Amino acid sequence: MLRVTALSLAELRERSSEKWREYPADVLPLFVAETDFPLAPAITTALQRALDTGDTGYVASRTPLAESFAAFAERRFGWAPDPARMRSTADVSMGIVEILRRVTQPGDRVVVTPPAYPPFYELVSEAGAEVSRVPLRDTGTAWELDLDGIRAAFEDGATAILLCNPHNPTGTVHDRDTLVALAELAEEFGAAVVSDEIHGPLAQPGTGFTPFLDAGDAARRVGYAVVSASKAFNLAGLKCALMVTADDETTAVVRGLPVEVEWRTGQFGLLAAVAAFAEESDEWLDGLLRTLDENRVLLEDILASRLPGARYRIPDAGYLAWIDLSALGWGENPARRILKEAKVALHYGPAFGAEGAGHVRLNFGTSPEIITEAIERIAALVGR
Ligand SMILES: Cc1ncc(COP(=O)(O)O)c(C=O)c1O
Repeated sequence: MLRVTALSLAELRERSSEKWREYPADVLPLFVAETDFPLAPAITTALQRALDTGDTGYVASRTPLAESFAAFAERRFGWAPDPARMRSTADVSMGIVEILRRVTQPGDRVVVTPPAYPPFYELVSEAGAEVSRVPLRDTGTAWELDLDGIRAAFEDGATAILLCNPHNPTGTVHDRDTLVALAELAEEFGAAVVSDEIHGPLAQPGTGFTPFLDAGDAARRVGYAVVSASKAFNLAGLKCALMVTADDETTAVVRGLPVEVEWRTGQFGLLAAVAAFAEESDEWLDGLLRTLDENRVLLEDILASRLPGARYRIPDAGYLAWIDLSALGWGENPARRILKEAKVALHYGPAFGAEGAGHVRLNFGTSPEIITEAIERIAALVGR
């Protein structure tokens, strides 16, 4: 069984990406969604080959990317998307904006379900639309889409929903029935569903991750999925994502996007994504999922013992923990004090919407040592 373990802090500090350059060296960075693991070996090989041959030109118009994602989706999710209905672009954010531009009119409302990945608010406005907020419902043990609230937003004129499947920051894997119901609701109102599935490959086994386009006939007609290898395989800087559709009308929308949208795909991103989606990387991804499973449980254990005021639910997917620190009395945005006094950088809860008051988002895609040290540092603030 392959083990995927994080690099040491000294090695990580050699990196020059946002996670490792935003703050001084005395700060433990657990904010932005980059991970601290080495690359999957097949990716290193593919990129090394490109370096050796100077294969750094434009992405070709015929590449194996769509076929390799289709095969990955079939193996990992039992979903068989059609490679002929996929187009690449630079990243998931760009795919979302370009699709929203086409499926909404200027000033239309697009449903976002807070707490939500902060750039969602900006992506909607970049596309010329406005956000209609329908917060997730907290059942006391989980979060779920508020289908009644979404219906009300559609009745009120919203023309699309930006779905996060699995959801960032809560790590929620929406269940199939909910997605089927959402699709039927969207179809009833002629609304589009843009499903951001960047965290899909990181759904833990047994959580029942359903790609939106595999959630029934209505979903195939109303849905646009935007997928990428970038979160699971830590390739965000290389720039490659795929827009996927499953119906002639939605496919025509994506085919109608300017060719420049596709030209912005990064060559390294594409080469790395093909290697990530290849069968030979499955064992690495399984190893990563095991490590993340251990980390999400470790976090629960140390929060319970060292920071019992924290409220945290183990996420179904990904490496992001949504932690409610309201009980500690550290105000609206506890990450500020934590950064200043504990020297741990977390993502600010309020950036995810009003529901994020008193919350922080912590990235546990790292080593048990770093997670433990971060919580120890934060716990030392209690009563101080
Ligand atoms: C839900 C979600 N969507 C999109 C992104 C950004 O993806 P990209 O860099 O491909 O635009 C992130 C990054 O963390 C994310 O969590």
